[in-house]
Amino acid sequence: MIFFGKLGIYNVISPKAYLSAWYTCNNSKTRLSWHALVIVIIRNHLAVIELSFKKIKPGQEILITTNSAFYKNVYESRVISVDKDMLCISIPYYKGLFVPLNVGFVLNLRINTGDEILCFTSEILYRNVSERCFFLRLPLHYKTQEKTSNRKCKFVTVTSSKGGVGKSTFVINYAIALSRLGKKVALFDADLGMANIDVLLKCNTSYNIVDVIDGRKNINEVISPAPGGINIIAGGSGMQRLSNLTSVEYSRITNGFNFLESNYDYVIFDTSAGLSKNVTSFIYSSDETIVLTTPEPHAITDAYSIIKVILENNREVALKLVVNKCETPAEGAEVLNRITNVVKNFLNYSMEPFGTIPESKLVSRSIKKRNPYILAYPSSKVAHSIEDLAEKEVQSVLKEGNSASHSNNPFINRLLKLLQNA
Ligand SMILES: Nc1ncnc2c1ncn2[C@@H]1O[C@H](COP(=O)(O)OP(=O)(O)OP(=O)(O)O)[C@@H](O)[C@H]1O
Ligand SMILES: [Mg+2]
Repeated sequence: MIFFGKLGIYNVISPKAYLSAWYTCNNSKTRLSWHALVIVIIRNHLAVIELSFKKIKPGQEILITTNSAFYKNVYESRVISVDKDMLCISIPYYKGLFVPLNVGFVLNLRINTGDEILCFTSEILYRNVSERCFFLRLPLHYKTQEKTSNRKCKFVTVTSSKGGVGKSTFVINYAIALSRLGKKVALFDADLGMANIDVLLKCNTSYNIVDVIDGRKNINEVISPAPGGINIIAGGSGMQRLSNLTSVEYSRITNGFNFLESNYDYVIFDTSAGLSKNVTSFIYSSDETIVLTTPEPHAITDAYSIIKVILENNREVALKLVVNKCETPAEGAEVLNRITNVVKNFLNYSMEPFGTIPESKLVSRSIKKRNPYILAYPSSKVAHSIEDLAEKEVQSVLKEGNSASHSNNPFINRLLKLLQNA
């Protein structure tokens, strides 16, 4: 049985485990038989699995998807306990509501253990409704999500033609929503005139990117933790210096950005309104640009103008449109369609109608509290709308892969080249 089993075992065992077992066998004083080799391989394999599953601890966050056509979203849950190969998790929820999954459902789980993200599939064996938990069996295989060093980071610029349309408010809440879906997000305040992310988030950013350029700090030391699990980086006046760096400054800043590129899933830039040379350089070097507007007529025409100017200089950009401060969903949908249709008809460009966000008094209330609305009012419509956008983004990356269009050339090289030629 065991001997027969070895044929299939290569599919589930890592080459490393196989080699280490082979080495063990060949180094034994008496050469071991294939039976023994297979046993050693299985033992090694199980030991590796056990070691990884030992990292699963109560309280860790889990993201769940199912294979069911009815339950297509990404659901959140937590580890309650692990006992040998049995895993107990809280009943998954979505937007604050429990999801009625039943015994027999097959779940795809992603557990963030801190060191790595363990991904595996398992079936609900038992449901304890009064305790609000499910029991699943830990499987014999799992995979870890891409290691940090091969992580594909998406650089996203958020821009608008008109000031005050809600860019900073949007980036903060969008970044937190992405982070809640298991993404590692850095928010970069690249607004030259009115940098205010730290104020809005009640965070201390004692250092900024100038300290990295001047060699006083490395990038780690200018990254500040912020509410909602995100990190923020203040650009400060460093943004203006990027176009004129000495060679040593150049290598400091490239090292810093390469660190971000390999350690984050998203780096999101909040920019100042309008198309300065600085802002266009960020747009053309980013993997994606979100243009934000509101339903006011002058904001709509301004949005069209900025899209036109962006495309006139370079059509190799991925533009998405978000309409903020919509009085009704119908108004939002109408503006979204109107702008994307005009862009299609007159500029021959397919712009993604990413979504809409309602106008809400809770936004200014949350700003006064300096607590992002997604955290202060998690069950509000405005919080749900930003969660929808983050989920749409995560789902599209899951389906289509990271659309990072310039993946072979690091972001910072593209940016510095554009800034220096400006
Ligand atoms: N969905 C919304 N509903 C109601 N008010 C909103 C909404 N989004 C943003 N606001 C309000 O709009 C104002 C401007 O927001 P914010 O500072 O985020 O805009 P901005 O585009 O970053 O501005 P600037 O161009 O000056 O950087 C804030 O007072 C905020 O409360
Ligand atoms: Mg702003």
